[in-house]
Formats: sequence, C-alpha cells, structure tokens
Amino acid sequence: MSHRAGRSPTAAKVSLLVLLVSAVCSRTSLSERVPEFALTKIEESDIKDDSGKEPIADDDADPEDLEVFYPTHQWQTLRPGQAVPAGSHVRLNLQTGDREARLPDSENGKSDTREEKRRRRLDKMDIDSNSFTSQELKKALAKMKESEKAERMAHEEEVRKKFRPIQQLKEEFEKLNVKMETDYEIMDKLISKFNSSASTLDEKVAALYDLEYYVHQVDNAKDFLSMGGLQLVIEGLNSTEPVLKEHAAFVLGAALSSNPKVQVEAIEGGALQKLLVILATEQPQAVKKKALFALCSMLRHFPYAQQQFLKLGGLQVLRGLFRQKGTEALHVRVVTLLYDLIVEKVPSPCHQDPQAPRAFSRATTSWPPLCSHRRSPSEMLLEDSQHGDQTEEKIQQYRQVKLVPALVEQDWCVVVSKLLALPEHDAREKVLQLLGVLMAFCRERYRGDRALSAALGLLRSEYEELAAEEQRDGDKDGYFKELLGSVNTIIQELG
Ligand SMILES: *[C@@H]1O[C@H](CO)[C@@H](O)[C@H](O)[C@H]1NC(C)=O
Ligand SMILES: *[C@@H]1O[C@H](CO)[C@@H](O)[C@H](O)[C@H]1NC(C)=O
Repeated sequence: MSHRAGRSPTAAKVSLLVLLVSAVCSRTSLSERVPEFALTKIEESDIKDDSGKEPIADDDADPEDLEVFYPTHQWQTLRPGQAVPAGSHVRLNLQTGDREARLPDSENGKSDTREEKRRRRLDKMDIDSNSFTSQELKKALAKMKESEKAERMAHEEEVRKKFRPIQQLKEEFEKLNVKMETDYEIMDKLISKFNSSASTLDEKVAALYDLEYYVHQVDNAKDFLSMGGLQLVIEGLNSTEPVLKEHAAFVLGAALSSNPKVQVEAIEGGALQKLLVILATEQPQAVKKKALFALCSMLRHFPYAQQQFLKLGGLQVLRGLFRQKGTEALHVRVVTLLYDLIVEKVPSPCHQDPQAPRAFSRATTSWPPLCSHRRSPSEMLLEDSQHGDQTEEKIQQYRQVKLVPALVEQDWCVVVSKLLALPEHDAREKVLQLLGVLMAFCRERYRGDRALSAALGLLRSEYEELAAEEQRDGDKDGYFKELLGSVNTIIQELG
C-alpha cells in the first residue's frame, strides 16, 4: 500500500472529513455558526497522539448556552449540535470518532509558521495512510455519520432558523477550493479503482472494503447499481483470487440487504448461481462465509429468489456444507438462514419477527444473526411497508416456495437435530429455534430417535441448573430459562 494517501481510496473518504475551515469561520459571526459540517482538520500528529488528554468539562457554562462550544487550549470533545466559535481548531479524533476542538495553535503557544499552515491547507488530503487503518476510519466515519444524523433530527428546526442553508456553505467551501465529496463521487472513484487493470490486488480489495461501507445505504446501493458497480462485483465472484471473491460477496451482501431493487437486478445478473458455485466448491472458509452472507441478503423477503434457489438446488448445496470438513462455523449460519426463511414465509403471531430483538438474543453478540445489519429508520420503514402491503403477487410467490417439504425430503430433520451437540449456547439457541418450527414436519422422524432424546435430556439438565443459578442471581426471565423453555417444549411435542 502506498504511503501517500493522496490518491488512494481511503483518501477519498478522508476528503469527506477533512475540511479546512478556519478561513470560513473567521468570517462567520456567532449567530450564523456552522452547525453540523465536518469542520475537521486532521493532522498527522493529531492522528497519532491525543486521547491521553482529558477534555476539560464545561462546568460553569450557562445551560442556556449549551449549544455553544467554549474552546480552551486543550482538545475537547464536541457534542452533537454544538457550534464552534470562529477561528477554532477542529479535528476528528480517529480513535473515538468524536470531533474535538480547541483554540488555534497560534494562541496555544506553539505558533505554526506561516509556511506550515499553508502546507497543511494545500496538503489537507495528504495523510499518512499508515497512521490509521481503514477499519478505524470506517468506524470513525460511521460514528460521525450516526451522530450527525441524530443531530440533524434533533436540531433540524433550530438549524433552519439559525443557520445559513447548506447550499450557501457549500458555495463558500467551493470558493475556498475545498471540495465536499458526495457519496456518489466517492463510490464512483472506488468502482473505477476496482475496475482498473492498473490497480494492484491490494488496491482492489481496499476499494471493495470501502465500497461495502457505502452500499449499506439504500440510496447509495441504487446509485451503485446505476453506475455499473453491482455487475462488477457479481463478476468479481468469478475472480480467481479468493480474496476478491470474498470482498465482492461482502459488498454484494451489503448492497442487497433490504433493497428489493438491487435484489432483482442481482438475480437477473446471475449472482445467485455464482454464489451457489462458491458454496458448492472448494473455497477458503472466509469466502464461503461472505458468500453465505450475500446469499442470505439475496433471499430474505424475496420469494422469487427463494424459488430460484430451490430450483437451482440451493438446499442441496447448503446440505453439502455439512459434509465438508472444517465448515462447522457455517452450520449455524445455515440454520439461522433456514429459520429466517421459514418464519418470514409464515408470519404468524407465534413467531416473532426474527429481526425484532428477542428476549433471549441478548447473549448472541458473538453470533450476530446472519441476516441482521444495522438498518436506518428509512430502511425499516421500507421493510415494514413491504410487510404491510404484501401484494397478492408476492403472497402467490411465497406459496410456490416449497421450502419445508424440500427440507423434509432431504432429511434436514436429522441434520439439524445433530447440531444440538454444539457446545455454544447461542448456537444451540438457533438450532432449537429451527427445531421448534420443523417439529410439526419432522415429528415422525424424531420419534424413536434415541440420540435426539438423549441430547435433549442432557440439555434439559444443563439448562435447569444454569437457569436456577441465573434465578439465584436475581434474573427471573433469564437467557437460560428461555433456552430451558425451548428444550422443554420440544420434549413435550415429541411426547
Ligand atoms: C470497467 O472497465 C471496462 C474496461 O476498461 C469498461 O469498459 C467498463 O465500462 C468499466 N466498468 C465500469 C462500471 O466502470
Ligand atoms: C463465471 O462463472 C460462471 C459459472 O458460475 C461461468 O459460467 C462463466 O463462464 C464465468 N465467467 C468468467 C468470465 O469466468
């Protein structure tokens, strides 16, 4: 990787963060402060040092004036919505994702030379990419975006009244030749980077890694589609480089999540076949994991894709994963996928929405549900509305998805019940969930299955003990009690 980030994909993102603003601020009176822009200047030294310095609390600040930030010579964390007085020095702390501000250097006794300042202004994007990882940046950016969103909602009204329109600000930035890059522009660059034959393998992987961040957003994913990026990552699934396959599947899965338009385009672009090929052939585990993630995003709430999946022998492909050595980590993900698909098809009151936070899912942080991703409110609305007015056509399509009969026919009943032997509680939780919904169809198979009775008996005594302990600790409706309940229900139903 190059040391100069000026032209690397990472820098494209940095440019989002890095706006050199003091000149604007000094012309800005306090009444028209800049509310939410990333008035952020990153210096190499800033990225490496800091975090040791305690921010000084603003104890004697007038509560009426909470919106105003009072800079001192120390870096202090900016709260969402706080406005920075003219001339302040603002930066993004890449370790915490917080924005911080203080009085400018010259008043800080350090007094930069004029030349240094000029250099920084000109080289504002020239950050040593080795001083932070792509992950750190990603995290910082995500956090920043989150807080900006919250900020926007909380202060929208005030902002409208108090502050100048963003367009005006942008014009000012442009006058200063400081460019705000849009997500669209950044994605465009990343796609070119990925597509360019001049890019190294590392650069391509980095481009995909960064793209994954952007395509989570529904609108970005649509742009990604119209720019031709989706087709490129689908082709990337064919790459001879496992690491490209892996990251292509990662981007694909992110773009597909809760995005019907992308789902349709992806299946028409042949993504489903390619994912199944990856899962059916010898591949590194990391590649299969991401392919499974993409498959899940492809199938969720998309009955047409589920139908195609069954037609193409997708279930047999997943079944094959249970025969290969070293794929154990994938088994629970498959179980979760199947459970989600069964439950989404039959949204009945006795089955909660699998994406709703379940009482006993709180111990599963180490095992995030396969299909879950952070959804923005608009994504949730979109998904809810899809649920609400399920069109007749969609219901019709769901009817044609003969998932459960195929599961029974391929003897998944036994495949699933054997997984009760897994040692992790959260893995068992998923297996018990699937067993619960399969029970009605597998009962005959399960009756007289001694191994299963024995496994259930062991689980019962284990969870009785753990639940009792939990209760002694004051947790009346604990995780283990839930698991015990699931075990008991299955034992009862086996009768
Ligand atoms: C990728 O590169 C090829 C060949 O240079 C070009 O024809 C194609 O339009 C590019 N695709 C995208 C999406 O940029
Ligand atoms: C990609 O893989 C598919 C099978 O999934 C194959 O039919 C196709 O020829 C491959 N394309 C390239 C360009 O390798």
